[in-house]
Parts: sequence; structure tokens; C-alpha cells
Amino acid sequence: MCGIVGATAKRPVSEILLAGLHSLEYRGYDSAGVALLHNDELFVSKHQGKVAILEAALQKQPSPSHIGIAHTRWATHGVPSAENAHPHVSNNRVAIVHNGIIENHDQLRKGLQAQGFEFVSQTDSEVIVHLLSVELHKGSDLDSALGAVVEQLDGAYAIAAIDIAHPDRIAAARHGSPLVLGIGFGEYFVASDPLALRQVTNRFIYLEEGDRVSITPDHYQIWDKTAASVTRPVVELKDKLDQASKGDFDHFMLKEIYEQPRVLAETTSFAGLPTVDESIFGANASEIFDRVDAIQIVACGTSYHAGMVAKYWFESHLGMPCNVEVASEFRYRLRAKRPNTLLLTISQSGETADSLAALRDAAPDEFLASLVIANVDNSALVRESDLVFLTQAGPEIGVASTKAFTTQLVGVLILLLAFGRRKGMDSGFQAQLLQALRTLPDDVEAVLVQRARIEAVSERFIQKHHALFLGRGVYYPIALEGSLKLKEISYIHAEAYPAGELKHGPLALVDEEMPVIAVAPNDELLEKLRSNLEEVRSRGGELYVFAPQEANFESSDRVHVINMPHCDAITSPITYTVALQLLSYYVAIQKGTDVDKPRNLAKSVTVE
Ligand code: M6R
Repeated sequence: MCGIVGATAKRPVSEILLAGLHSLEYRGYDSAGVALLHNDELFVSKHQGKVAILEAALQKQPSPSHIGIAHTRWATHGVPSAENAHPHVSNNRVAIVHNGIIENHDQLRKGLQAQGFEFVSQTDSEVIVHLLSVELHKGSDLDSALGAVVEQLDGAYAIAAIDIAHPDRIAAARHGSPLVLGIGFGEYFVASDPLALRQVTNRFIYLEEGDRVSITPDHYQIWDKTAASVTRPVVELKDKLDQASKGDFDHFMLKEIYEQPRVLAETTSFAGLPTVDESIFGANASEIFDRVDAIQIVACGTSYHAGMVAKYWFESHLGMPCNVEVASEFRYRLRAKRPNTLLLTISQSGETADSLAALRDAAPDEFLASLVIANVDNSALVRESDLVFLTQAGPEIGVASTKAFTTQLVGVLILLLAFGRRKGMDSGFQAQLLQALRTLPDDVEAVLVQRARIEAVSERFIQKHHALFLGRGVYYPIALEGSLKLKEISYIHAEAYPAGELKHGPLALVDEEMPVIAVAPNDELLEKLRSNLEEVRSRGGELYVFAPQEANFESSDRVHVINMPHCDAITSPITYTVALQLLSYYVAIQKGTDVDKPRNLAKSVTVE
């Protein structure tokens, strides 16, 4: 998604802005630009493609400017191009960058055109800069002008603006898209993600919905949505900067796959086992948990798959009713009230627009309380939920989610233990679960040992355009997650089915060209799955079977068995996931795609 960085300082800022844009690259973008103010002149440079192209252009014309705004754009309205890239400029005096979507842009554009404004881009964002021009022309200062502009906007936005009449000031506002204020010494910053500013500060203010802010090198002021001047808490971030570097790995995704034994252990120990320390969820967690009879999960993408696994676990181990729904559907339908139901959102970023909207859309009396399982502290979902479980995955940079997913599953298991205490979970099962969590990091290490074997089979996918993933029971969502990973980073069209559904349709797709990937643990459904795989074999399909030795699959010409370690049934959805992550990674390497930044995708989906 789009990224914003702005800086006003007593030193040149173009390097700070570029470093900020580089840190935001992982979020996905198609163009980048910067606007700098110096000696009453506005200098704008914007380019389609990588930040490196913008950087090379700026190196040819180094700027001593002490104030500027910069942007990476992920196209929503208008094709990726230099014209549509931000910043947008009006009357050669004011420039803006914008994240989000302005829903009434068409109507605003017509009004501005009637006043004689000429539009040079196809974007919704350009209306903002011309509206700002109108307000400045009336004699307003930059801060009040932005205040008057946001009154006219419908939709979601984070905006930063500069104007030649205010040579050291940035005005910014947010509604529906994230924006933070970074606090330096004799310098202030704004950005859509603190990561963009970690090179210059670790002190941040998370702006709230409807906030506006004005920054100069010596001063900042925040107004809330009622235009009242407000103070907001300063948060000091303590995470290490080196977590955002690839280290010795070729890609962030591979690094993040390999970090899993450590972060899974850290997420488990965060819960203070053997008895779950419920204060980690929030001060009144125990009181709320006592009243929960059912769970409604809402999430998107990979996090939705974690929710599907959670449904199997809550219903089969606790008999607790659990529904799961993708956020973009949940938010737009009429729903029945669920007394004593916990609304559980799951999100790596904590900023996903649909999940956030689902939380906000829930009526006060619709659910008992809300809980989020998130990876990013201070994110919008974390701030707006009643209770929080923070996965300890650390920053996840690869667009394809890996360690965030597996730590989300550990978060769900911790929750299962917390409810287990109340719902009479069998003590033998509880002991087994605790032991499984203890050995999980070693089980994942044992999967990582299979790297060479998985890399070898990945070569067989070079010419493939389609793939089918099969699983049964709790391994069906794992098959879905495997297929999502493969399609995201290798661009192979992949589908996942519960294996029992094969003969109800997808079997028609199976021929010699179709690789079929089976998640085949040695469980009570193994024999059923084996019959499903025979159906594939007898139609000439090529099988890739992830199974433990005890399952007795044998490799042959068209059957490739990848040995999985023996591990506890409750945590093995996590270990099988890691194997499928490696498969996708190596297939993408064979295909030569941009593994960490797959085309068209963004890391943090902050627009609808
Ligand atoms: O940050 P979130 O977990 O809320 O993001 C949800 C999805 O956008 C995300 O999981 C997406 O599907 C990933 N690219 C999957 O690898």
C-alpha cells in the first residue's frame, strides 16, 4: 500500500525521506516521489518504478532543503505512472501526499474544474491539493486550510502537505489510514508507519481518527476531530532496528521462515505457561473470559486461514461454538446478535482496513467484547480492541506472511488453554498441549532440515501453471494457506480443496500436467485421504505428499514424498505449514519472481 514520509528539520532532509521510503518498500508500491521546499521554490521529482530510480534522479540534483514530503504509491485510481505518482501540486505553491481513497473525488473534481483547475493525473488524490489551494487562496494558513479541506472529503485518508508560504511547516491529517508523528531533537516527522522513521527516532505519537497535526522543527500541535487542541501519549519503541534487515539470507521471506523456531518459543513464553497469565490480554481479561460462550472470528487472507484452524480447535477440543468469516463480507451484511460471544479479529499488521471496519461496525450490544491477535503493537486494531494478544513474531517484511501466521496459531492455542480452564478441558489433553508447545520449536527445526529435499522437488514446478492442494480436517485450512502462498509469490494458479470434495468437481482438472500437493499427517482421516490420492494417481496426476514415515507413502516416478517429522497432532498444522512455506519459496525462486515484493500486492492493506 501507499507510504508517506515527511520531515521538517534544521538539516537537509532528502536522505531521511529516501531512507524512509526504502523502509516502506516492503509494503508494495509502483511509483515514488518527493516534494522539497527551498528558497521559496517547490522542487518535485516523481517516477514510476522503484525508489532507487527516484534516488538516482535526486543524486543528480542534490537538494539542501530542510523540509519535504515523500510517497510510495500503490495504484488504486489511475495506472502506475509518473503523472499519477505523488506528490501532487497545485498552483506551483502547495504539494500533498495521500494514502487512502477519496470516495467523492468525482464530484469534487467537477466543482474544481468549474473553477478553472486543470487536472494532470487520473487520481482521486489530486482533488485534495486543489482544494487546499482554494483554501489558501482565501487567506487561511496551512493548518486551517487542511482542516477546511478534510471537512469536504468522504473516504479514507492520511495526508501530508507543504506550502511555499509556510517554509518550515508540514500539515497532516488522518482518517481511516494510519499516520504517526515522529519526535526528534530539533526536528519532527510524519509517516504512515514508524518503521519509516526508525533511523531518526524511536519516539512516536500515534495520531487518532480525525486528528490533524502541524509540525515545524521546534514545535508540534495536534487537533482532534472537533478541532480542539489535544495532547496524545508519546510511545517509545524498543524493538531492534536490525530486525528489519535480511542478514545472511537472500530474502526476507526465507529469513522469516527460519526465525520461526525462535519466535514461536517467544510467543509461547510470552503467555507465562504452564498457567496462562491472562493479564497479557488486558486488565479485565479474566472477567470477560468467564462470560464467553462462543467466538466469532473475523480476518483476511492468511489471518483468515488462522481463524479457520482456530474454529477446528475451539469446536473439537472445547465444544465451543466458533464462526469464522472474511472481514470484507462480515462488515457488509446484516448480522444476528450473539450474546456472550467474543469478537476475535486476527491480523498481522493490525491495520487491515476490512478487519478494522468489521471491528468498528460491530454494534455495542452485538458482542460481549473484542479481542485482537496482532503482531504490531499500537496498531489501530490493537488500540481499538478491548483485549489484545501480541504475537512475538517481530517485524514481518516479506509480503507473504509466514512467521506471523504460525505465531497467530500459537496465540490461538494460548487462548484455547485459557478457555480450557473454564470449559473443563481434559487435564490429559491440557498436559499434552503444553508439552506440544514446548517441543514445537524443535519440530519446526526438523522441518527446516528438509530444505534441500523441498528445494529439489520445487524444480518440477518450473513449467507449471496450475496446482491443487488437498487436506482434510484441520489440514484443509493449511492446504488453503499453502495454495495462497504459492499463488502469491510464484504466480502459479493454485486452489485448495478438502480432499473429500475432489470428486465433486476439481477432479476434472487432474491430468499429467497437474501437480497435486497433499497434506497427509498420520491421523484418523489418513485412509480417507489415501483413497482421494489414489483417485488423482489413476488419472495421471503428479503427487507431492507431505507425510510422516508412519503414513507409509512411497516415492515413485509420479509420487514425491516429503518426510515430515513425527510431532504432536495438536501443533502439527504449524509444522506442515512451514514445509509448504518452503515449497512456495523455492518454486518462486525457480520462477525468478520478486519473492519479498510480489507484483500487485501490498503488505499492509489499509484501503478497502
Ligand atoms: O495484516 P493482516 O494479517 O490483517 O493481513 C491480511 C492479509 O492481507 C494478509 O494475510 C495477506 O493475505 C498476506 N499477503 C498473506 O501472505
